[in-house]
Amino acid sequence: MNEEENKDSEINRGLEGVIAAETRVGYVKGDDGKLFYRGYEITTLADQSNYEEVSYLLLYGHLPKRNELEAYSKRLRNESDLPEELFSFIRSVGAKTHPMSALRTALSYLSSFDENESVNDPEDQERIGISLIAKMPTLVGAIHRTYSGKEIIRPDKNLGYASNFFYMATGARPDPVESKIMDTSLIVHADHGMNASTFSALVTVSTMADMYSAITSAIATLKGPLHGGANERALKMIKSMGKPENVEKELKRMTENGERVMGFGHRVYKVYDPRAKILKRYAEYFAERSGNENFKTAEMIEELMINKYGERGIFPNVDFYSGMIYEALGFKPEIFTPIFATGRISGWVARTIEYSRNNRLFRPKAEYVGERGPLKYIPIQDRE
Ligand code: ACO
Repeated sequence: MNEEENKDSEINRGLEGVIAAETRVGYVKGDDGKLFYRGYEITTLADQSNYEEVSYLLLYGHLPKRNELEAYSKRLRNESDLPEELFSFIRSVGAKTHPMSALRTALSYLSSFDENESVNDPEDQERIGISLIAKMPTLVGAIHRTYSGKEIIRPDKNLGYASNFFYMATGARPDPVESKIMDTSLIVHADHGMNASTFSALVTVSTMADMYSAITSAIATLKGPLHGGANERALKMIKSMGKPENVEKELKRMTENGERVMGFGHRVYKVYDPRAKILKRYAEYFAERSGNENFKTAEMIEELMINKYGERGIFPNVDFYSGMIYEALGFKPEIFTPIFATGRISGWVARTIEYSRNNRLFRPKAEYVGERGPLKYIPIQDRE
């Protein structure tokens, strides 16, 4: 069939509503504000689980037994270090490049240290996927340190995944509350249906490209402000509004200019995002601890946005409160999206492996609305 013949097809801009694959990894019940990983509700996992266990669950489809979890956590710890060349690369770009760009390039660079990089069988995908999950906190930690003008810290193999990430990024070992909050932040970002970055990973692997390429595509896609990049901008917006009493006027100005309020709205949730609810609790905890006014300003934005747009389904999403938490934990705003990527990598890997086991090359069509030829070719010297 010709590319332009779409007589029986509708155009689904942004592929909205199109079911492009089957999955058992997780699903979003947007109308009820619920999110499930392998059938477990996110609120339960955030309260009772930890990131290593959630990562195992997403990859293998069941909660690990004690010995399975120990073996998986040990593997993550053993594979967490990076080749020296990677640290040198991060040192060379880290201070001036946006951390998401540095992360995208550094992760891609890792493939050159893998002799079997191009092999794309399920075993290789799992091997590379787990190695990338293990290395992500080290990459992001090193990028954060260099971006902040500080020395890189290597992994401490006695610490769990989230605590080690916190340690490598901030230079301090977390207290139990900080460790729980870091862990929960990674858990709530671990998977989220057929979002844009996950879809990117699937498109890449559907060509039978390798896992490094799939995750590099996903990171590149997560960078944009309509996806993962919203968290950094949401905090900037909250701070620029300053006090709660400035919010109404500023929101009015934004609405009149057609500007989007970062950290609000979602393609799937038309009620309160359950992840935002979980993170809001922690943002409030930090606000009470520090007396910082940002939380009150954020609550005012939320109240006015819900009053104005709640009926239309524009509520806070996961990106609205996460930045406040990351800042309180000692992270720079430019690292917020890489933290998102550190959580999301387990979902990317799980879905990439799942999709390629039942692979079908992605190849949608476009409705051709341009000039229909054939036009007469005019040599360059005769063109006016
Ligand atoms: N601020 C103001 N208005 C909004 C917002 C917002 N944040 N989000 C949606 N709207 C409005 C739109 O202007 C549009 O209004 P209209 O019908 O009068 O034209 C209507 O709501 C529907 O908007 P769409 O863009 O069609 O909704 P969609 O479901 O595609 O949007 C998106 C989802 C892109 C996330 C959008 O809500 C947005 O731009 N939000 C801000 C960026 C953001 O927070 N991104 C993070 C998303 S969560 C994540 O990726 C982890």
